[in-house]
Amino acid sequence: MRPGGALHDRDPRVGAALDHAALYEASYQRERDLERQDQRRRDFMSELSHEIRTPLMSIQAFADLLRMDGTSLDAPADDLVSSLSFGVDRLNRLVSDLIDLGRSGGQEFEVHIGEVDVVEALRAAESLMRPAFLLRGQTVTSDTSATSVRAIADPHWLDQVILTVLSNANRHAPPASEIALRVLRTEDGCVRVEIRDHGTGIAREDRDRIFEPYYRARSADAESMPGAGIGLAVARRLIEAQGGRVWVEDCEDGAGARFCIDVRAVAEQA
Ligand SMILES: Nc1ncnc2c1ncn2[C@@H]1O[C@H](COP(=O)(O)OP(=O)(O)OP(=O)(O)O)[C@@H](O)[C@H]1O
Ligand SMILES: [Mg+2]
Repeated sequence: MRPGGALHDRDPRVGAALDHAALYEASYQRERDLERQDQRRRDFMSELSHEIRTPLMSIQAFADLLRMDGTSLDAPADDLVSSLSFGVDRLNRLVSDLIDLGRSGGQEFEVHIGEVDVVEALRAAESLMRPAFLLRGQTVTSDTSATSVRAIADPHWLDQVILTVLSNANRHAPPASEIALRVLRTEDGCVRVEIRDHGTGIAREDRDRIFEPYYRARSADAESMPGAGIGLAVARRLIEAQGGRVWVEDCEDGAGARFCIDVRAVAEQA
């Protein structure tokens, strides 16, 4: 039944006004419903994150305790505890990624832009990943002669993007392979981090899709390597929220993937 009944039928202007009012009421209700759903989703995400992180923190604490008393562990046991710590760290990061992905749109990332030394950021990320590279027998080389290259970025989110790409090189490139890192200034005023590995590489048709949430390329090693398929989707949102870019390109000398992360350079003093 139309709102306003007889009144509605008698005067077309009253009818139109009542129709508008009904439409407005319906859209207002829809908006309220969406807000309520959104709030429920946020509450769920924060409860989930708490529930997962609490046991992880105690596992991490046990691993730290075992390692603090370094003398009681022989070398194989020490390796096992290292990989346990690394696994916990990865799970923690996965939980953060899921939460970031659950947020609606880039505006919910708090972005704090400042000056960042990109060489230093890459070095720090590489040293955090060192146990993981060691475990897979991978060698990491760095072709960055500059001691410091400054950019305008969010230091925290930039670290996370670099770690995501490094962790993919570690997990998706074969054991005992080489991973090459480079920081350079581009002609169009950016600072670029390049992370190049010697794995299967990314097929041309997958080069954009791997940045979509939950997409995993169908290469043999992606199937054997567990993962959620969200690391790169989150990385792209994080880097774009600070005016940068992340993508993967061809390697001219054979197999492997070359991931590039661009952020705005600090203008060089004349
Ligand atoms: N260096 C790489 N070499 C080969 N394939 C890669 C590389 N990096 C990413 N990929 C492909 O891109 C897909 C998406 O990567 P993404 O980091 O988003 O997810 P993931 O590594 O599978 O899981 P997770 O979210 O746990 O990191 C991977 O599943 C893999 O198929
Ligand atoms: Mg990944």
